[in-house]
Amino acid sequence: MRSNPAVLSSYSLHRILLRFRHTLSSQRPAGFIIPMATTEDSLRQALADKQSTIDASGNAIRQLKTSGASKSEIDDAVRALNALKLEKTSIENQLRASISGDANGSVVSRDAFRQAVVNTLERRLFFIPSFKIYRGVAGLYDYGPPGCAIKSNVLAFWRQHFVLEEDMLEVDCPCVTPEVVLKASGHVDKFTDLMVKDEKTGTCYRADHLLKDHCKDKLEKDLGISTEKAAELKHILAVLDDLSAEELGAKIKEYGITAPDTKNPLSDPYPFNLMFQTSIGPSGLSAGYMRPETAQGIFVNFKDLYYYNGNKLPFAAAQIGQAFRNEISPRQGLLRVREFTLAEIEHFVDPDDKSHPKYSEVANLKFLMFPRDEQMSGQSAKRLCLGDAVSRGIVNNQTLAYFIGRVYLFLTRLGIDEERLRFRQHLPNEMAHYAADCWDAEIESSYGWIECVGIADRSAYDLRAHTDKSGVALVAQEKFAEPKEVEKLVITPVKKELGLAFKGNQKMVVEALEAMNEKEAMDMKATLESKGEVEFEVCTLQKTVTIKKNMVSISKEKKKEHQRVFTPSVIEPSFGIGRIIYCLYEHSFYMRPSKAGDEQLNVFRFPPLVAPIKCTVFPLVQNQQYEEVAKHISRSLTAAGISNKKDITGTSIGKRYARTDELGVPFAVTVDSTSSVTIRERDSKDQIRVSVEEVAAVVKDVSEGRSTWTDILKKYPAHTSASADE
Ligand code: ATP
Ligand code: GLY
Repeated sequence: MRSNPAVLSSYSLHRILLRFRHTLSSQRPAGFIIPMATTEDSLRQALADKQSTIDASGNAIRQLKTSGASKSEIDDAVRALNALKLEKTSIENQLRASISGDANGSVVSRDAFRQAVVNTLERRLFFIPSFKIYRGVAGLYDYGPPGCAIKSNVLAFWRQHFVLEEDMLEVDCPCVTPEVVLKASGHVDKFTDLMVKDEKTGTCYRADHLLKDHCKDKLEKDLGISTEKAAELKHILAVLDDLSAEELGAKIKEYGITAPDTKNPLSDPYPFNLMFQTSIGPSGLSAGYMRPETAQGIFVNFKDLYYYNGNKLPFAAAQIGQAFRNEISPRQGLLRVREFTLAEIEHFVDPDDKSHPKYSEVANLKFLMFPRDEQMSGQSAKRLCLGDAVSRGIVNNQTLAYFIGRVYLFLTRLGIDEERLRFRQHLPNEMAHYAADCWDAEIESSYGWIECVGIADRSAYDLRAHTDKSGVALVAQEKFAEPKEVEKLVITPVKKELGLAFKGNQKMVVEALEAMNEKEAMDMKATLESKGEVEFEVCTLQKTVTIKKNMVSISKEKKKEHQRVFTPSVIEPSFGIGRIIYCLYEHSFYMRPSKAGDEQLNVFRFPPLVAPIKCTVFPLVQNQQYEEVAKHISRSLTAAGISNKKDITGTSIGKRYARTDELGVPFAVTVDSTSSVTIRERDSKDQIRVSVEEVAAVVKDVSEGRSTWTDILKKYPAHTSASADE
């Protein structure tokens, strides 16, 4: 995740961490560099061994030929060589499958699948490239009618699942944000990606993406590379996010990577800030930015929200809204765009108590988790029980785990395939020093594993940053039932003596004395008591001064305190709505042959919860009476709050079914009499017969999950399709 310079989670983290990169690289755990042997490694080794055997038997055949061996002897050797070649091809196929994680091992099939999905989405107006009649702009897309309906369903479910069920405080803040806010959060200085330019044409590319493509291409297409080379490339892919500008530049040079379009040489990588800058008001003097995340709007409102919540912790605020990032060269279609909808939760919690009252509701969930130890030792994600992960210390705290569990439920209920959903923990060097733990919900699509939700424990960073910049204390109080007696360190510099001794430097010496921590102060007190003076380093003066016993008094005093004042920690789940929707498209899409078997028909198996339209209504044939019944059913569905669409075109019923399947509509009502109608379920194509008066209630029940289709099948008579097309 890149949500904030503070949480050095994946990209933002990396962007923001640029200046820490050298230290980070040197702190990399050694285990990272020597991953365990994987299936892929052993297949590469097997391939190299097979190639040597093929070379050897090729040489042997040549020798047989020069030594005048018999034809049958040579034929036997050639047959053996051909068998070896077949074995080699089989290893190559297994290796391809292992690299792509695809059962048939074909990169081509992955691309073809994506193309089929995207073509359908574009043809049926799920999305439209923005400003298409002016040839569009990279990274900007419109949602067309079915896309809008799906987005609105996903957001409605998000509000239900998080805001309502967790009693969150929803806010809606402006996209235009004054500079001071994003300066405090660190975005102005550090929200950057590393960019390289084509030295001749000036075209810009993201440096890490070029290196990533190079490594992936080599691994996928150049099967003959040695296991050592493969290990090196895989290591680069694993640490890509942590490479400094210098390290990235050096690798680009070492591998001879050039501009993809022109093959021209590339510039050295340099940071590019991803925020869209603007100015607020006509003078042009007040700088602003389009927000790169919604979270800051919540942080700056913390004081009021805390008050609204009765000055009680924990509580969560939530916001859904547009975010803007001027991505360098957006690729990956709908996954990396320049304006997108974020849904973010900031859950504020006492840093000393991160337990969660509803933790037991998710503790037994089991799903794919990819803890950092597994990543660093080259293993793959494992199905773990969330509760075990917390008790074994893999997940840092209950609240973080609670949100991981809730995100899992949210995504799978939407229709994300749970086999292609994993929670990946950030590596130690992916996180800021203050971040307690971060996990990304990654979904596998034809583009590979993609971060769709970032879940981070950001500790107190954001509230502290805004407290410092604004001067408004963004803190919480815990009132004690009984006043507590606490021992407090009291340092009292004697200004008169210090003034006489240090004159103009007095102020800096006073500040340095007051800034001592407890150990430093108590050591000073002991030395002053035994020796009467002590050498003291004043950083702001860049020198050491002599402090005498009469210049400072240090003591510990008992005080009664009525409350504890502290900066809350923040746990932040941040959802990229567009990415989730795109992955849902891929996970829902399939093709099946038409009844005649002459065509492949597209289907989106959206659950009714997200389906853009829940039901279509057709008269079987064009006929006034049937059309009236269809209108009546459509009106009763609308009155029941079920989105529906009438199709009174004269095309065959089979074609009309195919059309609604392609939009992912789960139910179709066909009017073939004036008293009863059929309801057809999209995936099974099963049909039942229901009376005209009941149909809206039945569709409503099954669309809203109160009954399953199996329940309905038991209750109503089956109908065998009359239509040959079907
Ligand atoms: P990435 O590493 O893919 O660039 P990120 O780490 O920058 O993502 P965050 O800053 O954590 O992402 O943003 C929160 C969420 O916003 C991500 O989990 C992702 O779903 C979404 N997101 C981020 N950048 C984009 C983008 N350019 N287009 C669409 N969604 C995005
Ligand atoms: N329900 C009518 C048909 O499918 O033919």
